[in-house]
Amino acid sequence: MVDFKYAPRLDIGFIDREHQKAFDDANALKGLLESALEASKPVAADIENLLQTLLSDTINHFALEEKQMREYQFPALDIHRKEHQRVLKWMEKEHRRWQLDQSVETIVHLQHYAGEQFPAWLLNHIVTMDTAMASYLRSHGGDAL
Ligand SMILES: [Fe+2]
Repeated sequence: MVDFKYAPRLDIGFIDREHQKAFDDANALKGLLESALEASKPVAADIENLLQTLLSDTINHFALEEKQMREYQFPALDIHRKEHQRVLKWMEKEHRRWQLDQSVETIVHLQHYAGEQFPAWLLNHIVTMDTAMASYLRSHGGDAL
């Protein structure tokens, strides 16, 4: 289980807040997928909504990070943006998988994505690329973001 409490704070308000929300949403998604397996109540629409929220929040979050990196002329912008694009494509693929097929196999697959793969990616991304970005932004006058 990957927990947000192990993620370092980057001390840039909107980034830390949105990272927390992404962890919370992935965790809530994992919970909904568990309920879907138990078939105790219909949750397909809730899963779809949460997948949409996670996707649109991630698109907005990446765009905001990229805007700051551009504004402050962060040297590693291209590498960072490519990683964002790769992860967005991956997220879109998982979303589409759910829309096409809501079988037990898909639910188990998405549980792994929401419960392990995505949070592990996010934690690693925060510790590496986002940390480098945030320290650059802070030392170039971006501490009021
Ligand atoms: Fe990032």
